[in-house]
Amino acid sequence: MIDVAGYNEVRRGETLGVDVQGAPVALVNVDGTIYAIHDTCTHARESLSGGWVEEDRIECPRHGAFFSVVTGEALTPPASQPLPTFAVEVRGGRVLVDPQPSHPHPLPEK
Ligand code: FES
Repeated sequence: MIDVAGYNEVRRGETLGVDVQGAPVALVNVDGTIYAIHDTCTHARESLSGGWVEEDRIECPRHGAFFSVVTGEALTPPASQPLPTFAVEVRGGRVLVDPQPSHPHPLPEK
């Protein structure tokens, strides 16, 4: 597990972009529980940590696709490919993230 941030740095209903061994990851605080999801939208590579959190979903700020921060599933168009998620532990006021994602990230071509 990689120490990426203080728990208090990720406020409820908000996101924080962090680096996990070179991978951009968005931490998302849903009612006090921190989730970690890959930070690059599978539609056109926008950074999701600049997006909006609605319950356990995050909305891409560029074209509005929603992803589940729990499963990484793409919930609405224009995104169709899921995002990897990462296991999270909170220990001693710190957020720790497993650098091994749930599945490979199917990034679109640039
Ligand atoms: S870049 Fe995210 S929905 Fe288009």
